Amino acid sequence: MARTSALLISLLAGQAYAHTFIWGVFVNGIDQGTFKGVRIPAYNGQNGKGGYNNSPVKDLNSIDMRCNVMGDIQAHDTIKVQPGDNLTFDWHHENRNNKDEVIANSHHGPSLIYISPDPPTENSFVKIWHEGKFESNPFPQAGKWSTTGDIAMNFGHMNVRVPEGLKAGHYIIRAEMVGLHEGDVSYLANPKRGAQFYPDCVQIEVEGDGEVELPEGVSFPGAYSYEDPGVVHNVYCSTETKKPKTSTTPCVTDYVIPGPTVWSGAWAETTAVPVGPVDGVTTATAWSTWIGTDSVVTSATFADVKSQTIVGSSKYTASWSDTYATPTATAARW
Ligand SMILES: *[C@@H]1O[C@H](CO)[C@@H](O)[C@H](O)[C@H]1NC(C)=O
Repeated sequence: MARTSALLISLLAGQAYAHTFIWGVFVNGIDQGTFKGVRIPAYNGQNGKGGYNNSPVKDLNSIDMRCNVMGDIQAHDTIKVQPGDNLTFDWHHENRNNKDEVIANSHHGPSLIYISPDPPTENSFVKIWHEGKFESNPFPQAGKWSTTGDIAMNFGHMNVRVPEGLKAGHYIIRAEMVGLHEGDVSYLANPKRGAQFYPDCVQIEVEGDGEVELPEGVSFPGAYSYEDPGVVHNVYCSTETKKPKTSTTPCVTDYVIPGPTVWSGAWAETTAVPVGPVDGVTTATAWSTWIGTDSVVTSATFADVKSQTIVGSSKYTASWSDTYATPTATAARW
């Protein structure tokens, strides 16, 4: 009995704490400041109750697939970069430091990065990097995956380079980790399970006299489907001789990363550049302390959100503009 409760508590804790998002961006190894340029997903702190949790997004048709919950709300700053700059996204879970677990160690899956003009339009997200499973291990081990075997092992650092010659302008970078630990079945078939998506967006302004325009890309939502082998995949089923325990999904060894192929204009190699010290706070404040004061939220349920009387039953309605608006610098969130 006691053992059962302990297990239950640890499972609940695991669920509540399973979130990961970008806490900062290093440009050529230099931190731009905690949360600078980052569209912070709704996050209610480690013990937050009510309001929205930061992801996971599981409904592939939800607007939250684009830039996570409340991803339409602009960050106050935009990070200025040049083509060829090395960007390091600093993903964390509870604290922005090297002791943070980054993402729960069960959340095996791929990592992906897209770039789109800001604001995104139909088919405007172009893939510039991805990483899936890079080592298979015998059943029942999960093998080595980007999220748990690379990003989490490297202090949350996810690297990408601004494409060579990219035309100046405002862009959104959509970076994402995917937890496939419950991805043996689709969310459509069983909403209690399904792949867990952790998208997060960063606002950049590319400077310089580049002339390269992005090709046609994909839309979020829209890019992924419940039919994709990279969305429904059993990570604990690494050999073809063993049957998966939890589903009838065939046991597949190879992993196909979801979404399109990486654009040929992206850098073929992505190097991890050494990063300097973090500039800014290393703990996050509950989003409910800033959402009411410095954001325009027109959702009918916003009063509920503000007073924290909702517990996941109401829905924030994202409102994406189709014209670029300069972010307004108002009260600091952090
Ligand atoms: C980015 O990293 C590559 C590989 O280490 C390096 O050659 C290049 O000079 C870096 N770019 C900048 C702008 O520092």
